[in-house]
Amino acid sequence: MKVIVTGGAGFIGGNFIHYYLAAHPDDRVVCIDKLTYAGNLSTLAPVMENENFRFVKLDICDREGVFALFEEEKPDVVINFAAESHVDRSIENPEIFLRTNIIGTEVMMDACRRFGNIRYHQVSTDEVYGDLPLDRPDLFFTEETPIHTSSPYSSSKAGADLLVLAYHRTYGLPVTISRCSNNYGPYHFPEKLIPLMIANALADKPLPVYGKGINVRDWLYVEDHCKAIDLIIRKGRIGEVYNVGGHNEMRNIDIVKLICKELGKPESLITYVTDRKGHDMRYAIDPAKIHNELGWLPETTFADGIKKTIQWYLDNKEWWQEIISGEYRNYYEKMYGNR
Ligand code: NAD
Ligand code: TYD
Repeated sequence: MKVIVTGGAGFIGGNFIHYYLAAHPDDRVVCIDKLTYAGNLSTLAPVMENENFRFVKLDICDREGVFALFEEEKPDVVINFAAESHVDRSIENPEIFLRTNIIGTEVMMDACRRFGNIRYHQVSTDEVYGDLPLDRPDLFFTEETPIHTSSPYSSSKAGADLLVLAYHRTYGLPVTISRCSNNYGPYHFPEKLIPLMIANALADKPLPVYGKGINVRDWLYVEDHCKAIDLIIRKGRIGEVYNVGGHNEMRNIDIVKLICKELGKPESLITYVTDRKGHDMRYAIDPAKIHNELGWLPETTFADGIKKTIQWYLDNKEWWQEIISGEYRNYYEKMYGNR
């Protein structure tokens, strides 16, 4: 099978490519990535020499370029990870989110239609459901929960999801969508909560917790997400949405304290800063559908996953230190300077 993976130089796409080439050594993977600030070729260094892997630097909004690549590669499956993915950046500058996340999705699906109704999978997020109240632990996101977004990021992802479902209904494109909760693991860009706190703690820098730190996220080890997507592209029902999550809800402050403990750093590094605008309170996935239909269950517990992740950041300092010393430093100054 030949698979086009977009956004493979990013966090989840990169982990997916590593997982997929190991799990299916006879398949070919072609990665399309624009290499934005979030894309890092060193994430793909371990597979660059693999003869079943090809990297192409390309913007998913570049219709001509995408069509030419499809004509050349004739893929069987397309998995769209490419996106602008950081909520805080979307609050600062929504436009690029609409372009990449919505127009990019349209271009990729148009290419799928043009070159033989190719199987298309959209990697989406639980953030399309908005948030749940903290005082209703009985409530979870199901696939029937109404779309109700809070940020420009989640709105752009929801817009893309609606377009994907419309392409199925209108043109009969064979699509699926996965909506996953927060991922963590290796190669996670250090602007997101867990890698940012690890990197700052190691440098004895302040750990900026938004608001009171009581917002809840439902964390899943990235490899479990990759396995879920692999199952969906093989066995998922066409036209369906699958929620992916492992019932691992944690408050931000408890995650940050855990990271301090694991690294032997004092909690006095924790600094409460101005809250995110429109900050979602709680995300919590009900994964019953993917479990019942496809037999998926998460394999890595949070206790193991967070230890593995911290160890990875300790063992791969050059990967993230290179990022922190570049453009990202300006971003950090701008976003956290007066907070
Ligand atoms: P990321 O920001 O780490 O990586 C995104 C990748 O897409 C980067 O390599 C970037 O260069 C590339 N990219 C951006 N714009 C592009 C364009 N126009 N053309 C081609 N490539 C482009 O993101 P991530 O955390 O790996 O997320 C991947 C996908 O999973 C996204 O669609 C995101 O919405 C979704 N998702 C993420 C999480 C999470 O916790 N990180 C959870 C659920 C869903
Ligand atoms: P993030 O990793 O940006 O993921 P998302 O917003 O998509 O869930 O943030 C996770 C949680 O951590 C979210 O509630 C915001 C909070 N947060 C902080 O408290 N401090 C930070 O510096 C960052 C980046 C996030």
